[in-house]
Amino acid sequence: METPILIENLEKTYKGGFKAVDALTLSVPRRSFVGFLGPNGAGKTTTIKIMTHLLEATGGKVYLNGVDAMSDPKKAMAEVGAVVETPEFYPYLTPVETLEYLGRLRGMSRQDIRRRTGEVLETVKMTEVKDKRIGQFSKGMKQRIAIAQAIMHEPSMIILDEPTSGLDPRGMFEVREVLNDLKKEDYTIFMSSHLLNEVQETCTDVALINRGKLLRYGKVADLIKEARAKKMEVKVARQPEQGVYSRITSLSGVMNLQVQGLNEFTFDIEGGDDEQAQLLVELQSLGLRVVSYKESGLALESLYMSLIADSR
Ligand SMILES: Nc1ncnc2c1ncn2[C@@H]1O[C@H](COP(=O)(O)OP(=O)(O)O)[C@@H](O)[C@H]1O
Ligand SMILES: [Mg+2]
Repeated sequence: METPILIENLEKTYKGGFKAVDALTLSVPRRSFVGFLGPNGAGKTTTIKIMTHLLEATGGKVYLNGVDAMSDPKKAMAEVGAVVETPEFYPYLTPVETLEYLGRLRGMSRQDIRRRTGEVLETVKMTEVKDKRIGQFSKGMKQRIAIAQAIMHEPSMIILDEPTSGLDPRGMFEVREVLNDLKKEDYTIFMSSHLLNEVQETCTDVALINRGKLLRYGKVADLIKEARAKKMEVKVARQPEQGVYSRITSLSGVMNLQVQGLNEFTFDIEGGDDEQAQLLVELQSLGLRVVSYKESGLALESLYMSLIADSR
């Protein structure tokens, strides 16, 4: 079987010379759920718009299920369900009517439309409101209708651009629930997000991008393993004397020391509780009057931040 998504050396230079996507190469295996992760402005939407033929690339290739998405977009998109921009729905139509209308536009048979409407509304948990007007729906509900609409024609692949962005916490939760259910089905899913925790919670794989470049691509679980180093935050009563920082750096297990102010610094450590306790003893034996010594934030968060910072 063909690779669902194959991106080769993709490039997009906007008018004015700004390169939003830079030599991006990525291959997405069947049935994986890839989080296309990066901060705002990283190039996610640009990439997804090129994949879904809403924008032209200035270089490189995209193949969807083996079909060249640039020279044969119609065929390439045949098995793709995409939610790129939340579509505007007719407010006076109900979900059932909306999906029926869309199914007809797509050339589906009346039978298929009826069957799929029931199925997809179930998938996005909208069966209860299937006969209410969409005009009354929250943004999160509309986003779930958008997902229903994208999978009406039984695609093998779903491409989503930041499906939870702009939603309130409840809307986010409900959309993520739907995404998690989709994962259990046979789809290959490619979803952009600027939220690390979202990718961590919903995706199997993560493709990290910044400034149009792919920084990392692998299993979410592997990235978490790599990030197991802890970030320690240390506050001391008095400004450390000269030379102390270089001695801290040379302590075993200490990485990436950063001075945060006169009396504060952070570093990453490898190892468990024993190593952490031992380091506290060693800091004190360097003459530091430690006021507080604590783990700060998510290790994965700091790995993400440092990968992004390194790419600048
Ligand atoms: N039409 C455009 N013309 C010029 N620059 C653009 C255009 N669209 C996006 N950009 C720039 O390209 C970069 C990537 O944008 P985008 O793909 O929307 O990133 P993301 O979706 O990751 O936030 C940004 O710096 C953005 O300002
Ligand atoms: Mg975007």
